Amino acid sequence: MRIRPWVSIIPIIIIMLVLSIGCTAETVSSTEVVMKITLPEPVYDSDTSIEEALLARRSVRNFSEEPITLQQLSQLLWVGQGITDPSGKRTAPSAGALYPLKLYVVVGNVEGLAAGIYEYEPETHALVKSADGDQRTSLAQVALGQASVEQGALDIVITAIYEITTIKYGERGIRYVHMEAGHAAQNICLEAVALELGAVTIGAFDDAGVQQVLGLPDNEVPLYIIPIGNPVN
Ligand SMILES: Cc1cc2nc3c(=O)[nH]c(=O)nc-3n(C[C@H](O)[C@H](O)[C@H](O)COP(=O)(O)O)c2cc1C
Repeated sequence: MRIRPWVSIIPIIIIMLVLSIGCTAETVSSTEVVMKITLPEPVYDSDTSIEEALLARRSVRNFSEEPITLQQLSQLLWVGQGITDPSGKRTAPSAGALYPLKLYVVVGNVEGLAAGIYEYEPETHALVKSADGDQRTSLAQVALGQASVEQGALDIVITAIYEITTIKYGERGIRYVHMEAGHAAQNICLEAVALELGAVTIGAFDDAGVQQVLGLPDNEVPLYIIPIGNPVN
């Protein structure tokens, strides 16, 4: 029996299909590859007591050129929104355990991590890259030109999707989301002290401008920018 020529390419097509299905976890389209960076395990101990951290915390707005380490970044994100319980509960309290906050990192000067914008994924304690290149200057421009935003080794941006909380609590949910941003930000500020880093919580910025720099959808609102770096001695 004569085999038609096109039949011979069927096994090749099947192999290509199987290979492409295996890649979907990392490939969004043929041109857009999702980069996920697993962070080092956080260290759950410190030489600084909570009281010492509270006593020493001050807003720091001037930073040196010294980079911060990936381990330090891991600590800062974990204290902000890390998961601490098999049920999914986190380091910071959340009304109804609904978790409307997200943390982004605008990276400029972190050892072993390319400059860019990354989203923190609490479930995997990993960073997912969403933009390339150093975006600190663009972020500073939409934050009234505040130099600390550009000078910090990185900026953690806390954003929120209000609907996640208001769907259960109505208008009062907005208040809850703001309270939660305060919890997360204070955790980050105190951890910065324990790591001998400096930080400042920034609320003065143009919301739409920050949304544009971070590529956020309309329903995701920036609440805080926290520049962090080694303080100038
Ligand atoms: C909601 C809020 C918004 C703030 N916004 C800014 C800001 O836009 N720029 C800035 O440099 N500091 C900002 N700060 C920091 C305050 O200026 C600072 O906390 C205050 O001067 C007290 O100093 P301390 O943090 O050293 O105790 C903000 C603080 C809070 C709580």
